[in-house]
Amino acid sequence: MSAAALTNVPAEYTLPEVPKVAGTEPDLCILDAYRIAAAKSVAEACGIDVEKVYPGVDIGKKQADLYVAMPRFRLGGKPDVWAKKVVDESGEASVISFCPSETVAGRSRGALLIEYVSASIAASLFPATRGQETFNFHVLRQIRLASPQDDVNAQDGVAPLDEAAKGKGYGCNASGKGKKALIEFSSVNIAKPFHAGHLRSTIIGAFLANLYEANGWEVIRVNYLGDWGKQFGLLALGFKKFGSEEELEADAIKHLYDVYVKINAEAEADPAIHDEARAFFKLMEDGDAEALGLWKRFRDFSIIKLEKMYARLNIHFDVYAGESLVSPEAMKRQVDLLEEKKLLCTDRGAVLANLEEYKLGKVVVRKAGECRGFKPHELSIAKSIMLPVTDGTSIYITRDLGEALERYEKYKFDKMVYVIAAQQNFHCQQFFKMLELMGYEWADKLEHVNFGMVLGMSTRKGTVKFLDDILQEAKLSMHEQMSKNEDKYKQIEDPEHVSDIIGQTAVKIQDMSAKRINDYEFNISRMTSFEGDTGPYIQYSHVRLCSVQRKNPNILLPEDLTQIKTSLLSEPKAREIIYVLSTYPQVIRDAFVDYQPSTIVTFCFKLCHLVSQAWETLKVQGQEEDLAVARLYLFVCTRDVLASAMRLLSLTPLERM
Ligand code: ARG
Repeated sequence: MSAAALTNVPAEYTLPEVPKVAGTEPDLCILDAYRIAAAKSVAEACGIDVEKVYPGVDIGKKQADLYVAMPRFRLGGKPDVWAKKVVDESGEASVISFCPSETVAGRSRGALLIEYVSASIAASLFPATRGQETFNFHVLRQIRLASPQDDVNAQDGVAPLDEAAKGKGYGCNASGKGKKALIEFSSVNIAKPFHAGHLRSTIIGAFLANLYEANGWEVIRVNYLGDWGKQFGLLALGFKKFGSEEELEADAIKHLYDVYVKINAEAEADPAIHDEARAFFKLMEDGDAEALGLWKRFRDFSIIKLEKMYARLNIHFDVYAGESLVSPEAMKRQVDLLEEKKLLCTDRGAVLANLEEYKLGKVVVRKAGECRGFKPHELSIAKSIMLPVTDGTSIYITRDLGEALERYEKYKFDKMVYVIAAQQNFHCQQFFKMLELMGYEWADKLEHVNFGMVLGMSTRKGTVKFLDDILQEAKLSMHEQMSKNEDKYKQIEDPEHVSDIIGQTAVKIQDMSAKRINDYEFNISRMTSFEGDTGPYIQYSHVRLCSVQRKNPNILLPEDLTQIKTSLLSEPKAREIIYVLSTYPQVIRDAFVDYQPSTIVTFCFKLCHLVSQAWETLKVQGQEEDLAVARLYLFVCTRDVLASAMRLLSLTPLERM
């Protein structure tokens, strides 16, 4: 272990040196030290490498603190004989105590259960280490030392994270140091309905960007707007007829959509409007200043409105890119390269990339028709309207090819993640394959993070739902519930704000509770319930943790953490909470492996459940001072970890509700 973790550690809590293992940071995650110590014991008894054993030391499996399944090391002979050898030989300098798993009913043979807090055994094995006490001391201290909030006794709970503190708190690691990730998410369309895919991309993408930061990466958040296409011609005509400057400024997203719906209805009756729209869009493509000016105002006002919505959701973007901004040169370079690599063929005037060899079909990269912007699932329609002349206009995938190239040249990213619905799996496969065939060495840095559908997401009227509507509905539902308890309601300073935050927490948690790829039912009443594993329940748990300090203003935590008698936290409930807190750094690493927000959500619920079971046994009020201080310390640390997990999920932890 490096020096930092040992600084100011009282002699009785000093941990023995452990070997270095790649990917571990005992300084930031004390559980690493214990895992390495376990791996070392196994390695020495079995004559294999610590590095090799380490990944086999599991956390939180089979009700053990650490768990080692001996068969995985393929040592030959009976695994339980090896397990016994480890138990017999580990000792003297060990901070952990092993027990062979067959001693516990129902556990698989040939495995080791490791319970580091078995004080009696640990004490005799390593006199300076007092089992649970030592563990308590280190876990809580690491949390406190990494906490972004300076004044531990501040009565107002959690301070908002400033930029500098991001990716630095307890649980974060430095594995991505020096690396840059571009995360593209949300990518809504202007003047087209906001749909569930955008909702999910926004929520999951925001999480993913935070997760990259928590893993030490530099992150650039990109919103790739759907802001180009014939619909802008139609929109321009519509705006001349039905538009209002005032409404555009107030809520461009909604107003442009309304206008779009109206002009579409007219165009249905009068096809000449479509011709006019095409003509207008042609002006835009040809760079006509007036046409582009109008379009630019639509785009700018839409971004203003979007930024407000994202800010409300605790989400921001570094770049507003857009389909309109992909340069024709970049697209041409890409199509030329495809040509050069002999990947192209033509069909009725359209230019296609042939990916049949890879079971990815043929992809139109430059179509014959005039209407731009169609997507894979619109291909059949597009083909039917193709004209026999190539006009060179771009399409969705060609823009993606051009955009990827420009992004790489501009940012030299180490990773680029696209957070897009699973409906576009095929599109992404084609697009990535093409880059690979074109020979770009950065092609393998691209990744599609997909997700399932939201079922039943329509307003009561059965029409489109805007993000605003969804948030409003969740907010109202929360507000209604809160106002049922009159006494409590009166105490809330700003019920509007509070119900808004809880409402969006409900939406986000519902979205991130299960594996990304699963579809889920949009159910306002279920997600806004305080019962069950919901967003409101997490907020409530956090608020309750914040209230401990408020309710006990006389109990102050000393600046010198070593003065806190963490040895008094000896109840099984305290032990369980501290153990779960100790796993948080690993939970962040695990979530990073498969990009599942549910890994973090599950962690939050686990912690919240333990906390709600602990209020009775771990009372702070009315206890003698040392005990009260120790328990308060435990709750403050728990609050900080829960808050940081919530922030990782882009939630705003509330202090009162
Ligand atoms: N705006 C597109 C849509 O709504 C999603 C864009 C996804 N990103 C991309 N690079 N293709 O379907």
